[in-house]
Amino acid sequence: MLNAEMNEIGQFIPLHYHYQMLSDASRMNAFRTAIEEIVTPRHKVAELGSGTGALSFFAARKGAQVWSVEFNPALVSASQKFLNENGLAHKVHISQGDAANWLPPEPVDLVICEMLHSALLREKQLQIVAAFRDAHMARFGKAPGILPAATLLGVQPIFQCYDFNGYYAPVPLFQSPYYESDNCGTCGDPVVYKVIEYDKAYVETFEASVSFSFNNETNVNALRFITKSLLTMDLFTGKSIDWHSQYLILPLSKTYELKAGQVMNTRFIYRPGDPIEALSNAISVDIVEQLQDKEKDQLSLIA
Ligand SMILES: C[S@@+](CC[C@H](N)C(=O)[O-])C[C@H]1O[C@@H](n2cnc3c(N)ncnc32)[C@H](O)[C@@H]1O
Repeated sequence: MLNAEMNEIGQFIPLHYHYQMLSDASRMNAFRTAIEEIVTPRHKVAELGSGTGALSFFAARKGAQVWSVEFNPALVSASQKFLNENGLAHKVHISQGDAANWLPPEPVDLVICEMLHSALLREKQLQIVAAFRDAHMARFGKAPGILPAATLLGVQPIFQCYDFNGYYAPVPLFQSPYYESDNCGTCGDPVVYKVIEYDKAYVETFEASVSFSFNNETNVNALRFITKSLLTMDLFTGKSIDWHSQYLILPLSKTYELKAGQVMNTRFIYRPGDPIEALSNAISVDIVEQLQDKEKDQLSLIA
């Protein structure tokens, strides 16, 4: 398939990368717990982009009938084999195809989709979930529950060490949200720039204009993009089962040496599913002096 076409559909992760996802304890525990909490034996479930079949397996193990779709034929056969070895092949039907144009033969109670790349780049989580939700509604007259329920996107200024044995190379990188990194210091609190609720979200451009103020001298040379998904929410208790995709660290064009009282205005714009470079290239930064309270009062009087 041509690169441009691949980019239209999403990102296909070859079998040899699935080990990383399967052995990511935070990811697996969060999805397993959420699926076990929601799914009952009466449920019909769909999974979009089922990979090795692990999430479909969790739903089938709770007694649900599952239909799954996966684009990569090698993963379709691997997952059929694994499900068979796990004794649940009879509960999960896997089709090969593009999840953006696929519906199960019957209405489902829940759809699961884990194409949650950092900052919702590269994979087409939003496009695929919205297309499925709308097609399901049009065909069966009802909307399925969606797992994850929502994704929060945030951004934070940081100082990242880009020294590699004396070689300075400011490259984009991924970081675990679940472990402290020695090579990275935070310079301010994260700010949420987008909230996506999958039961009503539609595909749109994400446009952010975020300001960070500094009370001390600080060096900032990168932005950390935070992607937190609420897999399921209990509306009565307010409790949720959450999962953080890997942090994405994007270097800025230079190191900004900020003085106390200065404000860093950052702006960026991208479409969900875009390549990482689209976001990298879209970041702009300017530094301004913080308005004193007196100046703010004067401005509000003018306004
Ligand atoms: C991040 S992996 C998750 C796999 C599996 N659900 C799990 O959690 O272990 C996303 C999967 O979606 C598949 N995929 C991506 N875009 C797709 C599309 N448009 N249609 C069907 N499958 C797709 C990829 O090949 C990959 O196996």
